[in-house]
Amino acid sequence: MRFPDGFLWGAATASYQIEGSPLADGAGPSIWHRFSHTPGNIAEGHTGDIACDHYRRWREDLALMKELGLKAYRFSVSWPRVLLEGKGRVNEKGLGFYERLVEGLGEAGIEPMVTLYHWDLPASLQDRGGWANREVVGWFSDYASLLFRRLGDRVRLWITLNEPWVTAHLGYATGVHAPGMRDIFAAFRAVHHQLLAHAEAVRALKAEGRGEIGITVNLGPQHPASPSEEDVRAAERWDAYLNRLFLDPLFLGEYPGPVLERFGWALPEGWEKDMGRIKEPGDFVGVNYYTRAVVAHDPEDPFLRARQVRQEAPHTEMGWEVYPDGLYEILTWLRDRYGGPKMYVTENGAAFPDRLEDEGVEDEARVDYLREHFLRAGRAMEEGVDLKGYMVWSLMDNFEWTFGYTKRFGLVYVDYETQRRVVKRSGRWYSNVIASGEV
Ligand code: FCB
Repeated sequence: MRFPDGFLWGAATASYQIEGSPLADGAGPSIWHRFSHTPGNIAEGHTGDIACDHYRRWREDLALMKELGLKAYRFSVSWPRVLLEGKGRVNEKGLGFYERLVEGLGEAGIEPMVTLYHWDLPASLQDRGGWANREVVGWFSDYASLLFRRLGDRVRLWITLNEPWVTAHLGYATGVHAPGMRDIFAAFRAVHHQLLAHAEAVRALKAEGRGEIGITVNLGPQHPASPSEEDVRAAERWDAYLNRLFLDPLFLGEYPGPVLERFGWALPEGWEKDMGRIKEPGDFVGVNYYTRAVVAHDPEDPFLRARQVRQEAPHTEMGWEVYPDGLYEILTWLRDRYGGPKMYVTENGAAFPDRLEDEGVEDEARVDYLREHFLRAGRAMEEGVDLKGYMVWSLMDNFEWTFGYTKRFGLVYVDYETQRRVVKRSGRWYSNVIASGEV
C-alpha cells in the first residue's frame, strides 16, 4: 500500500517519560515527580529522575531521529520547567531547552508536533486543586500563549492536551495515576475544565494567526460481548464515557446522553452555560489507538455496571488485545460522527518483552503490530478519512507511568544502565516505510 507524499510519518514521546533531571535548571516539581516518589505507586519504585536522560542527551536523540528518517517528532513540554509554579515568572533556562530542541528539529528538517500538556502538571497548581479548580483554565491558556509566542515561529502543529480522559479517570476517579485522587466530583470537574482549557487555548492560537491546533484523545471501539440488550447497553455506556466524553462537547456542544444520565450530578454547577464556549474542536483531532474492549453488563460494577471480557487473541505485554481493525473502525467512526475532521494518529504502538542480543533487538511482533495498523489507517484513508500523519509510540523505550521501566514501547532500545540506544528491527523497518512511502 502506498501512502501519499507529504504524509507525516513520525514518532512520539512525552516529557516526564524521557527527559530525566526533573528539577534541573530551576524547574519546579510536577505531580508525576511527587507521585513517583511516593512509595507504592510505581512498579519497582521507579521514578522519572533519570529516565532516558534526554534532557542532557537530546542532541544524540535528534541524531537518531535523523538516522531513522522521521518526518515529524511529537514531544511534550514540561509545564513546571517553563513556569516552575505553573504561572508567573518564566524560567528561561527551562524554556531554552525547548527552544534549542525546536531549532535542532528545524535544522534536521523534522516537523515538531508539540503537546502542551502530557500529564506533568506543576505540583503547586495541584496544591490549588489542579484540574478540579476552574482557575486552571486561565493558568493553562496563559501557559499556552507563552509557548505560542516563544515557539510559534518554528512550530506549526500544536496539541493542547494528551488523553484528557486518562487525566480525569485515572488521575481523579480511580487514583491510579497522579495526582492519585479518588473523587468522582473532582474527576468531572477535571473533564469540564480540560474542555474549557482546550477551547481557550485554541482561541489563543487563532489570535496569534498562525499554526494548527488539536486535542489528542485515546479511543477504542467498545464491542458488546453478546447481542443481548443488556450487553449492548453496557458497551454503549463505555463508548459514551471513553470515546464521546470529550469529542461530543467539542464538536457538538453537548455531553453524551449516557454520561449525563449516569454522572450528570457530578459536573460543576452551571456547566450548561459553558457548552457554547466549549464547542471549539480546533483544526484536527489527534487519535491515540492501542486496543478495543469487549464489554458485558455487570450489575456488581459500581461505576458503569459493566466489565471487560478478555478475548482469545494475541495480547501485548500490557495485556491489551492486538486488534488492528479497531483503528479503521475508530477513524471511520470519527469521520462519520464529527463531519470528516482532519486527523493525525498521535500514538500507536506496542510493548513486547524485547531482548538485546548480539547488539540487536529482533522485535518481529512489533513490526507485525505496526504493519497491520498502518494498513488499516491506509484503508481508512482510501475511504475518505482525512488522515495527515502517524506518530508511532514511542521513539524509544521510556518510563511507562505506573509500570516504570518494565514495559518497552520503543523503536529504539534503551539500556538504562549505560543510556546506550540501539535501533530495534522495528525501527529499521519503520525507516524503510518512511523512505519508500510503502507498507
Ligand atoms: C498512552 C500515553 C503515553 C504512553 C502510552 C503507552 O496512554 O499517552 O504516554 O504511556 O499510553
